[in-house]
Amino acid sequence: MLARIGRATCVSASQRFLHVAVERNAAFGQISEKDVAFFEQLLGAGGVVTDPDALEPFNRDWQKKYVGNTKVALRPRTTEQVSELLRYCYSRRLAVVPQGGNTGLVGGSVPVFDEVVVSTAAMNRVLEFDEVSGTLVAQAGAVLQSLDEYAGQRGFMMPLDLGAKGSCHIGGNVSTNAGGLRLVRYGSLHGSVLGLQVVLPQPLAGAAGAGSGGGGGGGDGRVLDLLRTLRKDNTGYDLKQLFIGAEGTLGIITAVAIQCAPRPASVQLALLACPSFPAVTAALRTARRMLGEVLSAVEFLDSPCSHLATAHLEGVRNPLLQGGAAEGGGGGGGGEGVTHGSVGSAPFYMLVETHGSDADHDQQKMERFLEAVMGDGSVVDGTLAASEAQAKSIWRLREGVSEALVRRGAVYKYDVSLPTSSMYELVEALRARLAAAGFGADAGVLVVGYGHIGDGNLHLNISAPRYDDGLLSLIEPYVYEYVSRHNGSISAEHGIGLMKAQCLSYSKGPVAVELMRRIKEVVDPYGIMNPYKVLPPRPA
Ligand code: FAD
Ligand code: MLT
Ligand code: ZN
Repeated sequence: MLARIGRATCVSASQRFLHVAVERNAAFGQISEKDVAFFEQLLGAGGVVTDPDALEPFNRDWQKKYVGNTKVALRPRTTEQVSELLRYCYSRRLAVVPQGGNTGLVGGSVPVFDEVVVSTAAMNRVLEFDEVSGTLVAQAGAVLQSLDEYAGQRGFMMPLDLGAKGSCHIGGNVSTNAGGLRLVRYGSLHGSVLGLQVVLPQPLAGAAGAGSGGGGGGGDGRVLDLLRTLRKDNTGYDLKQLFIGAEGTLGIITAVAIQCAPRPASVQLALLACPSFPAVTAALRTARRMLGEVLSAVEFLDSPCSHLATAHLEGVRNPLLQGGAAEGGGGGGGGEGVTHGSVGSAPFYMLVETHGSDADHDQQKMERFLEAVMGDGSVVDGTLAASEAQAKSIWRLREGVSEALVRRGAVYKYDVSLPTSSMYELVEALRARLAAAGFGADAGVLVVGYGHIGDGNLHLNISAPRYDDGLLSLIEPYVYEYVSRHNGSISAEHGIGLMKAQCLSYSKGPVAVELMRRIKEVVDPYGIMNPYKVLPPRPA
């Protein structure tokens, strides 16, 4: 059986086809009644989902773009159950997709064919919290926002934050190496994750029965226990790093130890309007210089993004647009019902946030920063949130962009790292390219840019009335070639998943890809863990 993965496509220079055809691996077993009976006996009837309607949310992703056909979703509650079910799947060669909150944006969290979904939704307990060091240990299915609330009650915060915080799981965050809104301050999960517990698909011969003291893992050698909370642990290969960003292709993360940060006593947030993209980068430089040690987020969005969020999401407004003036022009380059030069409209907006411990001091710093950027013209208008409610409302404008795009229609999503000073040139170049081919704003196609400018991370999105192969062929491989030419990355933070598995070589050389393949083969020789994702198939 050959599945045409409609929009999980990539066209390499030598392959002039639009759809990447993915073939079901015939070596994988197919789910039988006997398998279901085994799972029910292991997890109880409540831990096994087989009803087709109830399976629907496990089979399709957040964007409703990738749709699989699993016949069974499992909801284990303990590491032992995960270990048992993987032992069984391994012996039956049943392919497995780990699933957290299913908010991933690259088609990694849903089956391609009939893979068994292993959901971490029922593994949501906090296991340990150290109020001196701020280390938190939780099961993989704990929802990021709940963990942040838990840490908040103890004077701490989670070191990552993202628009999907109300649904995504900490295990999913680690598996995608999620970046988010505050990486500029709190760093990547490669730094803040202190330990992991992972269930491997196959037992490591020779390790079976070894004690778990010192993180050795026990049982049949399938549970890799790296669940330490030490800041420093320099004992050879740092194996946990392999699973951070592995997107479920090497094993199932069952617990995470993470370093929380002290919750800031003072938070300042400014929304700024900038007259051009160079002005955005100038303001970023000033923010780094003048806000240095308290800077906690620097985000940007262009005016079509602001317009999309205010137009498609209830209660979202841009406080810099008095009277709800329409936006457009400049960096935006057009959008529906757009009027140019309306009161307060600007081509770009920035969010600059500080986290500190002294409100007077931080406010003074923020005010001096605002004076500087307004004085040199890099910012033409701005507002400072005067309350937590105002800050939330400003964040909603930025965080709501992805949801607004999905509501508008079809979205082609790209998440790239590029040199910061020129990153918006890709948006402009693609906008011109599509318009020249008849896919301009008048055809309802919007090319927009937003993202984590403080981290050199651009979210390039193309919003269109419907998915169209002709449009796609103008976008890919153009975007990947552009990014590769500029020494960027085709995935800054969302991962590779199914969407970009065939495109990995735009960002990784042949030696790196081969080493990744070999690691995968050692850990998962039957390839049952999240097949078809991340790694391109070996050339025949
Ligand atoms: P899922 O989507 O369920 O899974 C993602 C991948 O991880 C899949 O490959 C899956 O197989 C694997 N996986 C999940 N759990 C496990 C586990 N326990 N063990 C092994 N593998 C596992 N991402 C960012 O980086 N930054 C952002 O700012 C950001 N903002 C977002 C905003 C919105 C509105 C949305 C919808 C998404 C956003 N994302 C962002 C993408 C997504 O939320 C993150 O990738 C998130 O970390 C995924 O977590 P999840 O629990 O939903 O994982
Ligand atoms: C964001 O920064 O808003 C997220 O990564 C989601 C997206 O890119 O749409
Ligand atoms: Zn992002």
